[in-house]
Amino acid sequence: MINNANLLSEGGFQKTEVERRRTFGIISHPDAGKTTLTEKLLLFGGAINMAGQVKARKGGRQATSDWMAIEQERGISVTSSVMKFDYRGCEINLLDTPGHQDFSEDTYRVLTAVDSAVMVIDCVKGVETQTRKLMEVCRMRNTPILTFINKLDREGMPPLDILAHIEENLQIECAPLSWPIGIGKRFKGTYNLYRKELNLFTPGQERLTNEMLTVSDLADPLLDELLGRQADELREDLALLEGATNPFDLDDYLKGSQTPVFFGSAINNFGVREMLDTFIDIAPGPLPRPTTTRIVSPMEEAFSGFVFKIQANMNPAHRDRIAFLRICSGRFQRGMRVRHHRLGKDILISNPIIFMAQDRAIVEEAWPGDIIGILNHGTIKIGDTFSEKEPLKFTGIPNFAPEHFRRVHLKSHLKSKQLQKGLAQLAEEGAVQLFRPVRGGEFILGAVGALQFDVTVERLKVEYGVDAHYETLDYTISRWVSCEDKKRLAAFEKANRSNLALDAEGNLNYLAVSEWKLKRVIEEWSGIVFLKTRDHQ
Ligand code: G4P
Repeated sequence: MINNANLLSEGGFQKTEVERRRTFGIISHPDAGKTTLTEKLLLFGGAINMAGQVKARKGGRQATSDWMAIEQERGISVTSSVMKFDYRGCEINLLDTPGHQDFSEDTYRVLTAVDSAVMVIDCVKGVETQTRKLMEVCRMRNTPILTFINKLDREGMPPLDILAHIEENLQIECAPLSWPIGIGKRFKGTYNLYRKELNLFTPGQERLTNEMLTVSDLADPLLDELLGRQADELREDLALLEGATNPFDLDDYLKGSQTPVFFGSAINNFGVREMLDTFIDIAPGPLPRPTTTRIVSPMEEAFSGFVFKIQANMNPAHRDRIAFLRICSGRFQRGMRVRHHRLGKDILISNPIIFMAQDRAIVEEAWPGDIIGILNHGTIKIGDTFSEKEPLKFTGIPNFAPEHFRRVHLKSHLKSKQLQKGLAQLAEEGAVQLFRPVRGGEFILGAVGALQFDVTVERLKVEYGVDAHYETLDYTISRWVSCEDKKRLAAFEKANRSNLALDAEGNLNYLAVSEWKLKRVIEEWSGIVFLKTRDHQ
């Protein structure tokens, strides 16, 4: 229930600031075109002025991301960031979702801090694994998703087949808002179904403004003049569409059950502005957020927010880290005193950071939907809530069950204390999870993306002076287990000791080698709850 007493008057300054914010992330499988699309969006927002700058960052060439040798070696960006830009009077926060080898729990968790998402699908490859996984996370909060089908300049699947493929694979209704005219070599452009406008494509021409021709009557001979034989194909397609697809429904989009679809080619900057314009119009602004006690509205006067990501300082000589905080309500001002509820302490945020496309700067003021960075020395954990006075705890910022596991071995046992400390601190940053087998023995690390293991071993060496190596384990799945019936839980523990481990917070986990094995154990042990995610305590 929203506490109305705390709401600001209608039409206030805060209302304007809240309503003009859009905070979103892009979900896609590697190589679908996320970086290219991000770059075009930043170009439209004036946040960068030259193509190639985001690519350069992705290539690891930018100075700020070279803090870790491994990052340089592999030429990737291990850490994700936030990009802020303005477009048509809106302030947009684009949260990066790392997708290549650097796919990790952070990628999932970023999606808990957004209000909507844009899904990029390669029209040749269709729905791929990472998109499927990210979509599952979006579904947890019914995040509204807008779809951009990319690479129309390539010979991909016929458009109706792509929509059916998405609906089948992702269980979401598709509502096309634009329709492609041909595909691959025959790609001539798109027809905007709602504005009734024709957008013509010229290969290899990167344009910031698209000339749209209004063609409200499909019988208009102008269509034949411009498209030749493909004019009739378009007419037939559109006639077919009426019965074959769903009309766009704003409520269904906002509920996360329908995705509006655009077709285009990010590299050619085609269809991107069309999508962005619609995104601004329909994507939700900052949404109310649940806490353990009530729902917090972004319009409330008192400041509140939660931490969804911790990033180690770029400079390994300093152990301080940046906590990424998503503002949920009120106005944030530099120098504010806020309550850190888990510790029950007030802290002064004197140098909050705001993230821009290529830079970071000290921020004086921020609003719901914005992400600010707070420097800390290890006292802040993922999931922590900060607010002005009322004790609050935002929910829905979970740990996600890892899919890769390694046992950690030390080269020198004299270093076991440092190892324990290092692992505990690195686990707090949230990229790896730490497990202690119930049977005893060495620590097990779990991660959503395998690259995190290399990062961890490197950081243990550089930051904690510990030489460790790994033993690969066969586990591929873990589940948090619990049971109200303590006797039943004890029996389960007794029977499954070799597959059980405690996480950093002491919660019991079952580790399985396969989906099949897990299914059998679940069937065998009715009454035991197996969870894929677990909220931070
Ligand atoms: P990602 O962030 O999702 O991993 O994808 P990214 O944007 O890096 O794009 C992956 C590849 O797809 C890149 O080619 C990029 O140029 C290409 N691409 C993106 N959009 C389109 C499009 O609309 N049409 C076509 N044909 N290709 C597209 P690359 O060869 O891997 O990199 P590069 O040499 O172009 O940098």
